[in-house]
Amino acid sequence: PVLVVDFGAQYAQLIARRVREASVYSEIVAHSITADEVKAKNPIGLVLSGGPSSVYAEGAPSFDPAIFDLGIPVLGICYGFQVMATALGGEVAHTGAREYGSTPVTVTDGVNALLAGQPAEQTVWMSHGDSVSKAPEGFTVLASTESTPVAAFANDERKLYGVQWHPEVKHSEHGQHVLENFLHRAAGIPADWNSGNVIAEQVARIREQVGTGKVLCGLSGGVDSSVAAAIVHKAVGDQLVCVFVDHGLLREGEREQVEIDYVASTGVRLITIDAREQFINALAGVSDPETKRKIIGREFIRSFEQAQADLIAEARATDGDPIRFLVQGTLYPDVVESGGGSGTANIKSHHNVGGLPEDLQFELVEPLRTLFKDEVRAIGSELGLPDVIVQRQPFPGPGLGIRIVGEVTQERLDLLRKADAIARAELTAAGLDREIWQCPVVLLADVRSVGVQGDGRTYGHPIVLRPVSSEDAMTADWTRLPYDVLAKISNRITNEVDGVNRVVLDVTSKPPGTIEWE
Ligand code: XMP
Repeated sequence: PVLVVDFGAQYAQLIARRVREASVYSEIVAHSITADEVKAKNPIGLVLSGGPSSVYAEGAPSFDPAIFDLGIPVLGICYGFQVMATALGGEVAHTGAREYGSTPVTVTDGVNALLAGQPAEQTVWMSHGDSVSKAPEGFTVLASTESTPVAAFANDERKLYGVQWHPEVKHSEHGQHVLENFLHRAAGIPADWNSGNVIAEQVARIREQVGTGKVLCGLSGGVDSSVAAAIVHKAVGDQLVCVFVDHGLLREGEREQVEIDYVASTGVRLITIDAREQFINALAGVSDPETKRKIIGREFIRSFEQAQADLIAEARATDGDPIRFLVQGTLYPDVVESGGGSGTANIKSHHNVGGLPEDLQFELVEPLRTLFKDEVRAIGSELGLPDVIVQRQPFPGPGLGIRIVGEVTQERLDLLRKADAIARAELTAAGLDREIWQCPVVLLADVRSVGVQGDGRTYGHPIVLRPVSSEDAMTADWTRLPYDVLAKISNRITNEVDGVNRVVLDVTSKPPGTIEWE
């Protein structure tokens, strides 16, 4: 792999993704990694990320300088550039000339591989206080800005390169090209990592891990579990059994999507647990959001456990081989965020499945552990999954249960399901699916207002539209949907859904509002 050394800012994940966009596999490692540890990972290149601090600041993230002597090509970015300069005898000065944001840069050497083929004048994204004032010996300066004489340098002999700006952000016009130049031209790394290879590699790995054992997967219908199951199925076929719990809080067509489209495109063995009655009974009389969530979580585990117990009993009865493996759709950001690598599986297993009992003792199969979401989608498509599954927007596990503000009843679920289907259909028809992160449709079941429909007075419920734009759901902004689309949704919902006489738009960002209403 190419190792991306994380100096503690948010840039490392972005760099890792950009390296992969250049068809080179990358992994993130902590800056405390030693030269021996690097050697053990046998990387074909290193990228040092930006960081939060000055190389002179107290507690500034350190880096083992012996890594520069390993003969592995290295690209230093921003803080990483300064770390390289300092370690190799250059000078970094606290000039006070801070550069932040879009900055014009002049490429003074377009012959060197790093900036070859780049325009002499371009705009890049800067974010630094200190500057490299003198390149280390043996290094050629490749670019400068008005206040930074050494904005990029190279030492071809040692295969060491650096840029002061952030090539990984889109604001740097030719940033991706700089990364590709480093990887392909300077370091000579081939562009041969793609979803086809990932699938082949994971299939081999799963076969090795699982052998002839049986594997269980809880399918939610979401992107991650769907793709994880599909890849495991490709590896071990009917050794995999998927369990899908229909809790009655699904949106229109969702169960069919899993039972028909998903099964048709993958051929997985699927067992649907029809738990609709169980859930609606358990939710009767409850309107407090947290209580609802707890009940839904508990009932979900109950149904899943029951299915497990049945399957395990069946497996024992037929061939004495119990189910030993459980598939999880854990993604790379989860792994990085919970400490980057070993020892994180258990934390996630509880979180992801909602608290599997300890004594079940499954061994986890996590085929997406090294991947980012967009890569998971690409792999899903490569595996032949339809767009309705692969491009699906996030939908909460508790489903419509937390989109009815008030008690959950069958009648209200049916009403909300209809309104939601209309909103989704119109957003899709308007081509807005990729623009919005998700659009919860919420029923205010305890609120009524007066309306007039036909010749009569109505006293109905409002439906709230909550379209949001987001990168990661941690923060979000309300999406400025075109008025004509809003008008169409509003008309259709009030005309077609009995009991609704008003459609309102939620114009709150997150924070202060969360995306869901409960
Ligand atoms: P909030 O409402 O916290 O939502 O801003 C952030 C993101 O998480 C989703 N969400 C959930 N997903 N189980 C899930 O699997 C849940 O209990 C849950 N609650 C919220 C929400 O849809 C949004 O994408």
